[in-house]
Amino acid sequence: MKTTLFQTQDAARDTVDGISARQDITRDELEFLLNAGKETVDYLRQQARQTAESIYGRAIYVRGLIEFTNYCKNDCYYCGIRRSNRCADRYRLSKEEMLACCETGYGLGFRTFVFQGGEDGYFTDDIICDLVSSVKERYPGCAVTLSIGEKSKESYRRYYEAGADRYLLRHETADEAHYRYLHPQELSLKNRMRCLYDLKEIGYQVGCGFMVGSPGQTVDTLYKDLRFIKELEPHMVGIGPFIPQHDTPFADRDAGTFDRTLRLLAVIRLIHPAVLLPSTTALGTIHPRGREEGVLSGANVVMPNLSPAGVRKKYALYDNKICTGDEAAECRSCLQRRMESIGYEVVTDRGDSKVVCRGRTRAGRG
Ligand code: 5AD
Ligand code: FES
Repeated sequence: MKTTLFQTQDAARDTVDGISARQDITRDELEFLLNAGKETVDYLRQQARQTAESIYGRAIYVRGLIEFTNYCKNDCYYCGIRRSNRCADRYRLSKEEMLACCETGYGLGFRTFVFQGGEDGYFTDDIICDLVSSVKERYPGCAVTLSIGEKSKESYRRYYEAGADRYLLRHETADEAHYRYLHPQELSLKNRMRCLYDLKEIGYQVGCGFMVGSPGQTVDTLYKDLRFIKELEPHMVGIGPFIPQHDTPFADRDAGTFDRTLRLLAVIRLIHPAVLLPSTTALGTIHPRGREEGVLSGANVVMPNLSPAGVRKKYALYDNKICTGDEAAECRSCLQRRMESIGYEVVTDRGDSKVVCRGRTRAGRG
């Protein structure tokens, strides 16, 4: 890196302004911002916050997260619900239980329901489509998001036709060797990307993302993540710190840091301004004010848990996850207070993305 480029505070600000103006970043600029001092980071975060505010105001969108199965056929080395984890206490919610979650959530002002689960063969396409259409029938004004992993294009199409609006599938890393390091042989980056492009082509609002500080991550792999975000133009990007889970192969690895997550949230906001950017539960887990500070770095979405209290501890992707002992209503009012404390407002709204992709005039079905 040419250190002379970034010698003074003025130059550091120019760097941030340049990234903001170009909506893009070089590898050297990324490295600089990951190592920059407090003054520069404060400026970076302030610019990111301002960018978010110019597009979304001070509204924070909420999504009700329903973690409906922790069975998973995959064996990702970082994840607590990987199939080899014999200690995981497995559960599945019934359709009735899920609809009850939606009912509670609707009453609390949620207008998006996110169904997330491991890749569980029990939930066939027919079952998923029936669930989606039942939710859309009861709550026509609400958005349904699925986060159930890698499927065929045909399956994705069927869910979309049943009424699903959005799909979250973190790419995890855009670097081939890093992907290999995080996943067993049978999973491939190529298929992951195929899924994301298929989802987009079908018309979903799509979310990709990655863990900050996952084992093996470097400036170069992160830079590839940012390049991938620029190429895919997702409507959402989910990032949170990697947090080790005690029954996984990565149990002894270091967690990602709070500070680095905040820097990356801000960078993503600047290079892809209209993206929906959640301040994640993982961020709230590694720092008591994590979700507030995430919003102050440009995030504009929070995803409180709507799962029944009895199963929450079992959806243990990582250790010490917050909110596992709380009821949906508690999380909702807790987050409202937290957001108000920093001058933001949780809104009752579907919270669609304002990302407009090249060659498209609207985001998914309007
Ligand atoms: N720490 C943080 N995030 C994790 N995820 C899975 N395991 C962990 C962990 N140990 C994230 C992955 C996945 C999302 C559902 O949760 O990025 O895509
Ligand atoms: Fe769950 Fe605060 S958001 S208790």
